[in-house]
Amino acid sequence: MKKLLLLLWGSMLLHTALSAQHIRKCGMQRKHEAMIAKNPDYARFLANQKASLQAAGDYYKQYKLHATTERSTALSAVPVIFHIIVDSAQFYNMGGASGIIRRCDSQIAVLNADFNKQNADSALIPSGWKPLYGNVGIHFGLAHRDPSGNCSPGYEVRILPGTSLTTVGYDIDSQPTPAEKMAATGLAAWDVDKYYNVWCINFTGASNGLLGITTTKSDVVAGWSNSWEMGVDILYNTLGSTGFTGSAPGTGGWEAPFNLGRTLTHETGHFFEIWHTWGDDDGLCPWNSGGADDGLNDTPPESDAQYGAPVYTLSGGTLNDGCKMNGSTNTQPVGIACLSYMDYTDDNAMQLFTPDQANVMASMVLVPVGGSGTTAGEGTIGEHYNLTQNPGLLVVCTPSGVEASPTETRSGLRIFPNPTSGVINVAVNSQAEKLIDIVVLDLLGRQVTVAKGESKDQYSLDLGGMSKGIYIVKCNFASGSITRKILLQ
Ligand code: ARG
Ligand code: ZN
Ligand code: CA
Repeated sequence: MKKLLLLLWGSMLLHTALSAQHIRKCGMQRKHEAMIAKNPDYARFLANQKASLQAAGDYYKQYKLHATTERSTALSAVPVIFHIIVDSAQFYNMGGASGIIRRCDSQIAVLNADFNKQNADSALIPSGWKPLYGNVGIHFGLAHRDPSGNCSPGYEVRILPGTSLTTVGYDIDSQPTPAEKMAATGLAAWDVDKYYNVWCINFTGASNGLLGITTTKSDVVAGWSNSWEMGVDILYNTLGSTGFTGSAPGTGGWEAPFNLGRTLTHETGHFFEIWHTWGDDDGLCPWNSGGADDGLNDTPPESDAQYGAPVYTLSGGTLNDGCKMNGSTNTQPVGIACLSYMDYTDDNAMQLFTPDQANVMASMVLVPVGGSGTTAGEGTIGEHYNLTQNPGLLVVCTPSGVEASPTETRSGLRIFPNPTSGVINVAVNSQAEKLIDIVVLDLLGRQVTVAKGESKDQYSLDLGGMSKGIYIVKCNFASGSITRKILLQ
């Protein structure tokens, strides 16, 4: 017996060593475990919070059916502000000033695709999971006004000398030191009721290998976290899906397999209160003592996280794990939800939120409606409702004076015809200044179309089919951006 145990122990060690790169845990899970160790009440709080989700999502689903009569306020995109705190080497890693612009623009595009069933890689979803491809319906845009009403590009950068936050001891497992969220040592949150705050930092110390961590509003409301901490931290070089000039999506000068912008998709899932698909119970099944799940019905019971790009073994499905059979019931007929953004798989191995995951998130921006209040979510305001009520913050804003800046003279920028009935031509002087790309945005800051810079002097963009109105043409040059308004009529 002893021998057998030793053998088992030995093979476990071997396994751990072999999969050393696989022991990465999400900051959320690590923070939860550290906080529960300090205070078991937190476990009860989390269990209750999780238990409320399915009903909130169901209520949203029901509500959506009669949304046209009851939804009185149009939802607008959530304004996102990226607080980037890095040292100069990391700043270079991100592609410098122009790389950061591309990272922020591409990150917003990834969020909008993933949260609106627009991700191109949805083609990879196996047939059995197609009906489980959910639409959240939340949009995101760069915040173009800061809390004082000044113009903003949607990001702010603070370059700290040396090794970024190491010296102030950011370590989630022992003493979470939110140095990155303090004005003195980092960049403070913008009004958490109006902006989705995303810090892009370098995790150090015991937090090495971490990709992201979220502070939820439910934690804040219950007093477990401070409101000024609310939002998400991601590893700086996971921001966006394109970085250096000329790089293809996912190759912008930083490491695969976390280079498609899905770290923020995952953390944004947490921000809108959804959990990891296996329930963070370290390998148990929900029906085991001490076992847990994610509180949602359409994600099958699952034992533990998946890493890398799992090999699918089920035809039309994914794969089974140790929680397949509950008694004589096959609980995983199409496999586990390892293709959900809420697993630990690689960026190119995740393609969906399930409808239940999507409905829970959508319920967080639910417009208040009447009702008896007997159904969960009924009559209550979604916790992040306010984030969708400030379209003015998204309107691209050009500080006065920019139009006549020397950059513009050098770039020779000319946009014509304006107004246009469809095609716009953008003329530049490619000899004078390198054009990175031309991005066309609507007034809510949503990307409408984009043209990659080449070594030519004229670009033609077709806006035919878009709804009439004002659009912003943002030309990103190596030395900065120029934006112009155009009218489509
Ligand atoms: N917070 C999670 C972690 O640190 C993020 C996982 C994101 N996954 C991804 N493929 N980008 O592991
Ligand atoms: Zn996570
Ligand atoms: Ca589930």
